[in-house]
Amino acid sequence: MSSFTLITGASMGIGEAFVHEFAVQGHNLVLVARSVDKLQLLAEELRRERGIQVEVCVMDLNENGAAESVYAFCCKRNIHIDVLVNCAGVSWAGSFVDIGLQKIEELVMVNMMTTAKLVRLFVADMVVRKKGTLLNIASLGGLQGVPGLGLYSATKAFMITLTEALAIELQGTGVRAFVVCPGFIATTIFEHSGHNIKSIRLPLSTTEVFIKETIKALRKKQVRVFPTLLDRCLVISHRFFSRKMVVRLAGFFAGAEKK
Ligand SMILES: NC(=O)c1ccc[n+]([C@@H]2O[C@H](COP(=O)([O-])OP(=O)(O)OC[C@H]3O[C@@H](n4cnc5c(N)ncnc54)[C@H](OP(=O)(O)O)[C@@H]3O)[C@@H](O)[C@H]2O)c1
Repeated sequence: MSSFTLITGASMGIGEAFVHEFAVQGHNLVLVARSVDKLQLLAEELRRERGIQVEVCVMDLNENGAAESVYAFCCKRNIHIDVLVNCAGVSWAGSFVDIGLQKIEELVMVNMMTTAKLVRLFVADMVVRKKGTLLNIASLGGLQGVPGLGLYSATKAFMITLTEALAIELQGTGVRAFVVCPGFIATTIFEHSGHNIKSIRLPLSTTEVFIKETIKALRKKQVRVFPTLLDRCLVISHRFFSRKMVVRLAGFFAGAEKK
């Protein structure tokens, strides 16, 4: 059996940034997403330049049974996963009463259902091997409701609470669980979700800064990881406002409400 790091959402944005970071650290990789061409190009580049093993698992995580298929893909190749990075995610901007029912299913399926199943399947094996790391990528938006991003923020709250509970359950097993809660990072997620990036009222970070700060923050071994100084300041600021004001401010900063 060979040891690998599995990254969902590996084809672009934050997931791709994790791919490069773990490749530099010498991890063998399983890349999961739908964009087959992007994944294959990335895999070829990493094999050539980093000399690591890279497997491409093309999968639509919005389909029933996707998590089981990703797990079967690894079992079939005798790959065991020591690091699982759940990064694939979808968002939708606007008033909740306007969201399409299929979009609700997609957000729930990709951000919650498939993610939870992947955690269940791979972390159970890590516990047996007494070794492993889980990185769930949530969002600062999961710390409170965000008007204009209501369902998205709810799915990220799911990831945060699931990971917090799991981290305690895993104590003493040799397996660590972290949930990363970034603020805004310039990626294609805004374009895909109908969220006008220009209406965001906070500075956007880059994927390079995000990765550097996340790796640094992970060393503190706190379950909830707030990568940048701005992220940490925003979290601390919650103490000084009423819950209602925190929610209003989150909506104001996101600028995702349709006028
Ligand atoms: N950017 C931000 O400001 C920000 C802030 C906080 C948290 N996050 C979180 O960070 C994660 C990555 O976001 P990003 O900004 O990098 O977004 P992105 O650029 O839109 O990338 C999203 C990734 O998820 C994959 N994905 C989406 N739907 C999928 C599906 N049905 N099946 C398989 N893969 C799917 C995409 O791959 P394919 O299209 O190739 O399938 C892509 O690799 C998300 O969970 C997001 O919620 C982002």
